[in-house]
Amino acid sequence: MPNDEQPHLNVNGKRLTIQKSWFGESLLFTLRERLGLYGSKNACEQGECGSCSIMLDETLVCACLVLTGSATGRDIKTIESLAPEGSLSTIQQAFIDTGAIQCGFCTPGLLITIKDFLDENTDPTELEIREAISGNLCRCTGYGRIVEAVRIASKTHDESQGAS
Ligand code: FES
Ligand code: FES
Repeated sequence: MPNDEQPHLNVNGKRLTIQKSWFGESLLFTLRERLGLYGSKNACEQGECGSCSIMLDETLVCACLVLTGSATGRDIKTIESLAPEGSLSTIQQAFIDTGAIQCGFCTPGLLITIKDFLDENTDPTELEIREAISGNLCRCTGYGRIVEAVRIASKTHDESQGAS
């Protein structure tokens, strides 16, 4: 039985109790270091790179800029929710097919961002794709293959799949 006195977060459809947390810490820290959800990456911790992107009440945010205390009782979706364990979403598959992953550090944040984008725009132009991912920095790929992956994923994207 969940203890209402214990701090908890609603993450990926589950109510997770947080042990030894300080509610002034960032949601990114709590997700990774308290809850073991390592998919959201920690690069800049300043809201600059997008590698920690998650959905908070269906809004795309940088988890490094959200205080854990302010996320209590809200609906959090991380990269771990994008596809059932052992399977890939169409966006993930498109990244693999196009070679859009090199070191992979930017990939989780990009995937969450693109999922949110394609839920709203199923037939994007290249300009719209580039604008949508402009908050996600990738130092490896030059973005061309990422744009191609989004194009391919847009053809088969299923809004009901994964994180939104
Ligand atoms: S780690 Fe959050 S935006 Fe860079
Ligand atoms: S693949 Fe290395 S930062 Fe994007």
